[in-house]
Amino acid sequence: MKPKSSTLIVGLTWGDEAKGKIVDILARDHDCVVRYNGGNNAGHTVAFGGETYKLHLVPSGLFHENITCVIGGGVVVDPKVLLEEITKNEPKALHLRQRLLVSSRAHTIWPWHSKLEALSEKHQGKGKIGTTLRGIGPAYADKANRVTAIRMGEFLRPEHLEKKVQRIVEQKNQVFEKVFGEPGLDAAAIWREYAAYGEALRPMIADTTAYLLNAIDDGRRLLFEGAQGTLLDIDHGTYPYVTSSNASACGAWTGTGVPARALGQILGVVKAYTTRVGEGPFPTELKDALGDQIREQGHEYGTTTGRPRRCGWLDTFAIRYAARINSIDGIVITLLDVLGGLPELKICTGYTVGGRALTDFPDDPLALEQAQPILESLTPWKEDVSGVRDYRDLPLAARRYVKRVEEIIGAPVRIISVGPSREQTIFRQ
Ligand code: IMP
Repeated sequence: MKPKSSTLIVGLTWGDEAKGKIVDILARDHDCVVRYNGGNNAGHTVAFGGETYKLHLVPSGLFHENITCVIGGGVVVDPKVLLEEITKNEPKALHLRQRLLVSSRAHTIWPWHSKLEALSEKHQGKGKIGTTLRGIGPAYADKANRVTAIRMGEFLRPEHLEKKVQRIVEQKNQVFEKVFGEPGLDAAAIWREYAAYGEALRPMIADTTAYLLNAIDDGRRLLFEGAQGTLLDIDHGTYPYVTSSNASACGAWTGTGVPARALGQILGVVKAYTTRVGEGPFPTELKDALGDQIREQGHEYGTTTGRPRRCGWLDTFAIRYAARINSIDGIVITLLDVLGGLPELKICTGYTVGGRALTDFPDDPLALEQAQPILESLTPWKEDVSGVRDYRDLPLAARRYVKRVEEIIGAPVRIISVGPSREQTIFRQ
């Protein structure tokens, strides 16, 4: 195996850590950008040249003409959304169709998935997950179920797939009609629409596992782009309020076929504060004017659904857990500029449950719901840091904040983002 020059970018909280910007910046030092999990529940924002681009499925390296973008087998692909995203971004992402590869192993999202999810969430009432309603969970459920799943590679044999779609819709319609009392779907109409998407995507469908393994042998540098964050990981996150894929670094090995040992470094991304969308416990949430102030200063509204994000203090207890799960080499702090001008500044260093301090991040959702954050006050700063490019030019209080995060997490802060554009970035040795 050649020297390990690949990088993995992973969110350490509940997603929305501004990973898209970081991937876009680091892409210039790599040859391929690879998505390994999730689907169009993700919303990655990239800003340059005065424009902002919101991406859901295509890896955030698309605007670099020399980069190959790979959608790995661990991703669930909505063919309609993927085509729309390619078409919309083609004017800026030159020759995208020639440099985008979609794994033949990736599973697909169909209209029955989003319909089932909407019915199921409605049926749950208060106990709902608060999903993005993009059909992600039902598509991964079908993947585990196998007999009702469809992979991208099946679009290469449309005559077989047409019959399979017919059979699956018959089965799904039983559930819609008999369980939910809802009208079923029209298999023929769905097939007409999706066969055309399959035809358009056909040239991009490939065995990406073989492609990536060969790329490593050839010394090409891969950049893995995680979607969502470690606390939303189906196995290691705050279950059941999680997404349906492995959003932590371990999703990269299963979601691409590239072995963990081929990786050079893992960078964990956190915002300078913590946010969460959807339901589920969030110990450092600020349900007051300060939380509203952070939401407004940080424009904390979902890229995919537009929902207001819940905002709170930086939760280093949760982040330390995520950092260990991912075995990170370094930290990226984003949106540091948003904290400027807050009347007070705190970070969470631990939790108590029933008056007792926890030693480890809870595995039990009820304990997490009852957890009280142990908060440490730090000196706030008033200055606008969005123009700072050198770490030494940050106000002393901001540097102390960064240092404290490093101390608690036990890893160096390598990159600090102080605004959405590529230039608003501080690199540290
Ligand atoms: P799903 O992924 O649509 O099934 O939603 C499950 C949970 O993950 C919900 O709480 C969503 O709000 C959350 N979620 C899914 N994708 C993202 C994301 O990209 N950023 C932040 N939260 C997400």
